[in-house]
Formats: sequence, C-alpha cells, structure tokens
Amino acid sequence: DKANYRHFMAKEIHEQPEVVGHTLARYIDMASERVMLPVKLPFDFKDVQRISITACGTASYAGYVAKYWFERLARIPVELDVASEFRYREAPLRKGDLAIFISQSGETADTLAALRYAKAEGVHTLSVVNVPTSTIARESETVLQTLAGPEIGVASTKAFTCQLMVLASLAVAAGKARGELSDEDEIKLVHGLVEIPRLMAAALTLEPQIEKLARDISKSKDVLYLGRGTSYPLALEGALKLKEISYIHAEGYAAGELKHGPIALIDENMPVVVIAPHDRVFEKTVSNMQEVAARGGNIILMTDAKGAAEATIESLVTIVLPDMAAAFTPMVYAIPVQLLAYHTAVVMGTDVDQPRNLAKSVTVE
Ligand code: F6R
Repeated sequence: DKANYRHFMAKEIHEQPEVVGHTLARYIDMASERVMLPVKLPFDFKDVQRISITACGTASYAGYVAKYWFERLARIPVELDVASEFRYREAPLRKGDLAIFISQSGETADTLAALRYAKAEGVHTLSVVNVPTSTIARESETVLQTLAGPEIGVASTKAFTCQLMVLASLAVAAGKARGELSDEDEIKLVHGLVEIPRLMAAALTLEPQIEKLARDISKSKDVLYLGRGTSYPLALEGALKLKEISYIHAEGYAAGELKHGPIALIDENMPVVVIAPHDRVFEKTVSNMQEVAARGGNIILMTDAKGAAEATIESLVTIVLPDMAAAFTPMVYAIPVQLLAYHTAVVMGTDVDQPRNLAKSVTVE
C-alpha cells in the first residue's frame, strides 16, 4: 500500500523519521540515555582487535560510514569489503576478529557466502538485517535487527538509515566497553542519536526545493558527488541512488581525490553535488569546491547554516540542513540525497520502484 504516495520509494523516504525512531528505541534506553543492546553479545568488545565489515551495494555504504564510527569512537581498526570480493579473496581472519554483515533482505548470495566463510574461519559473526527470518539472520551468531519494516522499492532508503542507526549504537557501545568513551561522552552521543528522527523530519521539509533542483539535474548526462569523512560514503550512496533509478551516470568521490583525476571532467555541463556539513573537515571540502567553481562547475551544496555562511562561492545552490551533532550527519543528509535521486527519476519518467535490470534481492551471484 503506497498510502497517498506516488511510489513506494517516496513513501519509504518519508517513513524514515518513524522507522529510524523505532530502531533507536530498540537500541537506546531513553530513560538513562545509554546504549542498551537488545541481545547479549557473545564476546567482549575489549577483546576485539579488528572488525571486518562485509555487504553489497547500499548496505556496504552503511558499513563504510560505520568504519569511521568504530575507528573514531572505539579505536578498533575496521576493514570494509564488498561481499563479492571478500568471499573469494581468502582474507585471513584471526581470533579476536569480529565479522559484521549488513543486509536488508538477509538473502544476498554474496553476503551469505561471506558469512559462511567467516564462520568457517572461526570468528565471531554479527549481522545487521531487516528480515529476521532470513538466511543471513538464521546463520549468524548474533543478529541485530533493523526495524525499517518491509522495503518494497528496489532502491534501498529506509533500510539504509536504520542500518546506520544500529551501527551507530553499536559503535557507541563498543567505545564504552573499551573505555574509549566516558559516561559523559556516551550520554552526549546518545543525545545526538535521539535527535535524529526529528532532524530527519526537518530535512524532509526541503523537498520542494529539491524537486526544483531535480529538473536541472535531469538535463545532465553525468553528475559528480563529493564528500569527506562520513560524507564520503554518502557521496557514493548518492551516486548509486541516482544512477539506479534515473539512469543518469553518476560517480561518488572522496573530495580530496578530485585533483587526482576527476577534476578533468568538470565543466558547466556536469553538476557537482557536495555533501559537507560544518564538521572538522568542512574547510578542506570548501577548498575542493573552490577548485570546481574555478573551472565553471555548477555546485549543489548540502550543508548547514554555518556551512552556508562560510561557503561564499558563486554558481552555488545551497540546501541548508538543520544544525546537528557532527558525529551522525549521514542519517540526516541521506534524506536530501535520496530525494534528489527520487525527483530526478520522476522527471525522467522512469519506473522508480522497479528500475530496469534490477532485482530487490540478489540471491544469485
Ligand atoms: C541499492 C540497493 C542495493 C542493495 C544491495 C544489498 O539501492 O538496494 O545496492 O543495497 O543489493 O541488498 P541487501 O541489503 O538486501 O543485502
């Protein structure tokens, strides 16, 4: 049931404040403002020496964001792989490793094979899945469920942000268990998480502006997405979302990689979407943005009020998001990224919920 929406994807984008809120309530104790996992972990984060995260597509980008969180908040080194590479690479896993798998469907063939490989190597396995009866859920040692509800649109939206919420909570729990975070740090971070559903709802009010921008984007042949830090995996996600539903070619790059190649592509015909909340790497991204502007590139900047005030560049369209805790921006910035892809696809007249050549669940490799 699409309720009053034109597509399941639109409905699922708009459901995010609610389902991310449900997911949050499962992992956070609201009264004490502490992380409280719904299951007891069969290992102690103090003993975890390395985390390996494996997933496909959008789920792998959630994993990529989580890499930054586990490394910063818990000081655990993280390796991230797409499952199709991990499963055949014969990556050595050791005692003390934790293997994390992320999947909406819980049936993705490559992710399942990667999980079986990790189990055979004898390490702890933990999966973040949306379908609790799925094969990946059944075969994992620990299951952390996302409460996104059924996701019908082929392009993943609400599953992605719910995965981020689970992984953010887990990273805080890990930081706490390892003594990297104090009680005070934990409360502050949890505060930040509790705010997310409200901030997502605020981000949804930007839809009319994004709808207008989508008309320009729909005239382009190629679009570049740039981000730094946790905004980098979100740039990858933005490019994936745009190409899969609008069929416009898009690429995501780490902003700092611009001058190592992609800058050669910049001209007035290729819009550049820059995802840059005013965080610790903001100024670096602004200087990359100036390089784009100097070459006639048209920029769409997703930032907050502070960022908008500081980034005074001509030929710039700014999408101003609410101010928020710097640690968890990807959950909120995912909204304009998804809306831009969605409205561009609507302008293009593609089959938004069932894009060509794609299946919701990839059960063959
Ligand atoms: C993109 C998309 C895919 C899936 C990928 C993994 O919008 O939906 O990239 O994220 O096929 O699927 P799951 O999460 O079911 O393992």
